Amino acid sequence: MKRIAFVMIAGLALNGCNDAEKSEQTAASAPGPAMQMPLYQMRAELPEGDRLASEVDGEVLFSNRCGACHLPGGMGTNLLTKQRVEAGYPPESGLLANRDDLTADYVKDVVRHGKVAMPPQTRVDVTDAELERIAAFLEGEAE
Ligand code: HEC
Repeated sequence: MKRIAFVMIAGLALNGCNDAEKSEQTAASAPGPAMQMPLYQMRAELPEGDRLASEVDGEVLFSNRCGACHLPGGMGTNLLTKQRVEAGYPPESGLLANRDDLTADYVKDVVRHGKVAMPPQTRVDVTDAELERIAAFLEGEAE
């Protein structure tokens, strides 16, 4: 029963999106400069493979699993940029990939438990094997 209710809600949400998309498409089909996708929507595609023993590059995984929020323009980037600037750091440090103070353990802790506006990411969202690679990428990034 719960599942049915969820499907119905999801269906309604999707319908809502479709309507919004339709009006955007109408606007986009008007002559003018080509529309550019926001950067946070241009996430890396993920090759097929064993997610429990992932061999995908950490940067690709980060882009795919975290990019919707942590690539330029994403809500995580926007929030962190505001926080970092207020704390006296340069705005570029709002991008996790530009940080040199993140340890792998800290990244894993935030991902599994969430932090303020960031929801926890489950092992379905990001497997342990994927998270290992993402955390190593973020830790090693600015070294
Ligand atoms: C749904 C959006 C969303 C997703 C998906 C997401 N994050 Fe976040 N993340 C945020 C937001 C928002 C914050 C800022 C939280 C706050 O302080 O309010 C944040 C903060 C963080 C921080 C803390 C930075 C600091 O300065 O303390 C880390 C580390 C982090 N995210 C890593 C990740 C990783 C790695 C992934 C992918 C596995 C990921 N996040 C996926 C939204 C997201």
